[in-house]
Amino acid sequence: MSLFANAVGRKVLMGATGLFMLLFVLAHLLGNSSIFAGREALNGYAEHLHALGPLVWIARIVMGTMLAVHLFFGIILTMENSDANPEKYAVNKMLKATFYSQTMIWTGLLILGFLVFHLAQFTLRITPDITAEAAANKPGDVFSMVVNSFRYFAIAGVYVGAMVALFCHLNHGIQSIFQSLGLSNKCTQPKVTSFGKVLATLLLLGYCAIPVAIITGILTK
Ligand code: HEM
Repeated sequence: MSLFANAVGRKVLMGATGLFMLLFVLAHLLGNSSIFAGREALNGYAEHLHALGPLVWIARIVMGTMLAVHLFFGIILTMENSDANPEKYAVNKMLKATFYSQTMIWTGLLILGFLVFHLAQFTLRITPDITAEAAANKPGDVFSMVVNSFRYFAIAGVYVGAMVALFCHLNHGIQSIFQSLGLSNKCTQPKVTSFGKVLATLLLLGYCAIPVAIITGILTK
């Protein structure tokens, strides 16, 4: 039986690609948090990343592939789950339906929408909040670019909203990764569920701290 051809195989693919993206989100938060250590720290971090050259492109291609697989099978799983499907029951029997589990497709699509905006803003640098200097000079002064952008209330608000969607997605998603990859069982599932909720909350607080610190003037240029 191929991984692609049955519901359990597709859950494994969802879990593996989800785990990869979770690790990225954790690493990205650690890197972004250097903004609290000041201009040199964040700009130095961005310069190190850009200096990796072709490795950055390999990472982008791998990440794009993971995202595409996760999205594709997420849509298929959602469609299957709305039909009566005994295999789906076998996969999900340890999990109670919650607000978070039932809204996975919607929070996932919101995060995708945010990601399109985020890449246009800070990677392509084509959104109206980005100055001509920041657009022409990569990585340049990433610290000033981020602080300038988050001083717009609407942009800080979009980020906080997107982080709430990410929190909702991960609140169910982290425990689901463990279950889909066979890393939890009936006994360990409650602990795994609590771990997922704590980690999702820490990511929410960590990511929101940046726009909130800027919009409130705690972090300035
Ligand atoms: C406060 C929140 C965030 C801040 C301040 C932030 C900041 C940044 C910056 C400055 C870059 C461009 C780096 C550079 O080219 O030098 C970037 C790239 C990126 N961010 Fe974020 N980010 C945030 C949240 C997120 C979240 C929640 C995700 C995922 C859901 C994400 C995914 C990405 C991706 C995929 C890239 C592109 C990496 C690349 O290939 O260049 N970011 N972010």
